[in-house]
Formats: sequence, structure tokens, C-alpha cells
Amino acid sequence: MIIRRAANGLDLPYPSEITPRAVFEERRQFIRRLALGSVAGSALWEMANREAHGQTASAQKLVASPNPAYAILDKKTSQKDATTYNNFYEFGTDKSEPAMMAGGLKTRPWTVSIEGEVKKPFVLDIDSLLKLATLEERIYRFRCVEGWSMVVPWIGYSLSHLIKKAEPTGNAKYIEFVTLDDKKQMPGVRSPVLDWPYTEGLRLDEAAHPLALLTFGMYGEVLPNQNGAPVRMVLPWKYGFKSVKSIVKIRFTKEQPATAWNKTAPREYGFYSNVSPEVDHPRWSQASERRIGEDGLFARKRKTLMFNGYSEVASLYTGMDLKKFY
Ligand code: MTE
Repeated sequence: MIIRRAANGLDLPYPSEITPRAVFEERRQFIRRLALGSVAGSALWEMANREAHGQTASAQKLVASPNPAYAILDKKTSQKDATTYNNFYEFGTDKSEPAMMAGGLKTRPWTVSIEGEVKKPFVLDIDSLLKLATLEERIYRFRCVEGWSMVVPWIGYSLSHLIKKAEPTGNAKYIEFVTLDDKKQMPGVRSPVLDWPYTEGLRLDEAAHPLALLTFGMYGEVLPNQNGAPVRMVLPWKYGFKSVKSIVKIRFTKEQPATAWNKTAPREYGFYSNVSPEVDHPRWSQASERRIGEDGLFARKRKTLMFNGYSEVASLYTGMDLKKFY
């Protein structure tokens, strides 16, 4: 990941700075070789081994029936790719770092606080949250603003179930999501690359759309830490950075909440961030994408679809100029 010096003097990595895949693979090999050369059983060996298998050591099954409404024909991305090529800046800005650094994140006990414009604020422990509605497996296309995409079988339920339980007041127009912010567990938080904690936001009607998935697992297992354990959002019609990980707070608000990437680079990352081949990022086109696993640096890219192919959300934006509200 390339780090740029921003106008405010901070060292600023943008999600746009892609580690070319060949370089990434080479680095991964290097770490593995380095690890094999050191004492077996060392932390590094364990990390490399875990990374090689694309999962945390304690991968636990999570049972959910596939929802046929979201079974797409695209080939699934391999579990290894989806769990070792990650953006999770709390664990470093390089794609390989979350899988190596997030293993120690303590995901039990864990609570999520529901607050703001709701009838009565409450706190749910993660196991109660998990049981709030029936878990489904949904295969979603996932498009990163950097120009790559994946196809992942996620496990969760529509966020609308939690919204219903929260009983938002008439003032609630938006939802803010807040990630854990813990310097002890998250080495990336010690560096000022973003204004921590990582936050994201949605308009209430977007959040209540059935596609918006409160997510607890992937590939038949609980989420590995690097993918946002124990609970994250997955919003398949929006760029990946909206899909906030390791959530500890969900706040209903009157006003549009600030979001981490919008605060950092407002010209580049808007509040809506809907996938659109017609709205280029200021520094590159969004018309096409590289599907992880099908790549090779010279493979043909595929065309990016409006709303990432999820046209059922179009009615949320009727009458809005999506070039202005990017
Ligand atoms: N959530 C938090 N808390 N911190 C992050 O750095 N990165 C975002 C998003 N959620 C991020 C986050 C970005 S840029 C992307 S592309 C996706 O997570 C990556 O999700 P994945 O690692 O499961 O593919």
C-alpha cells in the first residue's frame, strides 16, 4: 500500500492504492519462506501457516440455509483469497496484514450498543444478536472502490430485523455504525491514518433494504477476525468500504453522520458510494473491475454493473443526481 502525505500533513493511505497482486503474492511467499526458516512453532510460523490456510486457527462452523433469492451464477471467490486479501486498517494498511495481525482480536465477550433516536436504547451481547433472526447464506458480489471484486457466500440476516427491534423514533433518518477502537488489540489504530474509530453511515431506508446484511459468517464458518468478526455489515450495491467491520455501536440519528473515508478525503469518497460505472473516482475510472482469483495481471477486466448488478435498490435513489450524491 502506498502512503501519501495529505494536505493536513498526515501520512494517508487511500483505499485506491492497490498492492499489485503479483507483488502481494510475492510478499506472502516471502513471509512464508522467512517463517519456515525460523524456529517451528514460533508466532511467525503460526501466522504464516494460518495465512496459508486463509483462516484463523479457531474457525468455527456456522450453519445457515442458502437463500435461493441471492444465489448468483458467478463463480465464488476462493475462501483463501477472501480471507487473506483484506482491507482492515485497524490491523495495517497492507492487504496481507489483517490476516496476520487480527488473530488475537477478542470477539467474546462482545456487545453492540443500539442508541440515539430509538424508543429505548439497549445493549445486546453478540450471541443474543446472532439469534435475533434466522441466519441465511447469501452469495453476493462485493466490489471494492479500488477496482477489484469478489463473490462471497456471507452468513447473516437483513439488518431490517434489528431496526425493527430498535423501534426508531420519527426523528431517525440515518444510522451510524461504529467499529471497535482499541489500541491494545488493533495495532493500526496507533497510527493516524484515519480518524478513529472507523465509522460508516446509511440513510434509514437504505439500511432497511432487505439486501443490507448484518453479517456473522462466511463460507459456512464464523467470520475470521480479518473479515470483521464478530459482526459486520455487507452492502453489495455499495463500494466495499461502506461494509463496516467489527461493529460495537449502531446509532440512529437525525442528521447525516460523518464517515471515516469521507472525513479523510471528501472529494474522493462520498456518503452514498453506490457502485456506478458512470461515476468515476476523481483519479480513475470505475467502468470495469478485476475479479480476484480470475486475474493474473493481464487478464481482461469485466464491466462494472450499475449498483453492482443489484437493480432492486434503484428506487431508493429516484430523482437523485448520483453524480452529485456520489
Ligand atoms: N471496516 C473497518 N472497521 N476498517 C476498515 O479498514 N475497510 C473497508 C471495509 N470495512 C474497513 C472496514 C474496505 S476498504 C473494504 S474493501 C472492506 O471492508 C473489505 O472487506 P473484506 O476484507 O471482508 O474483503
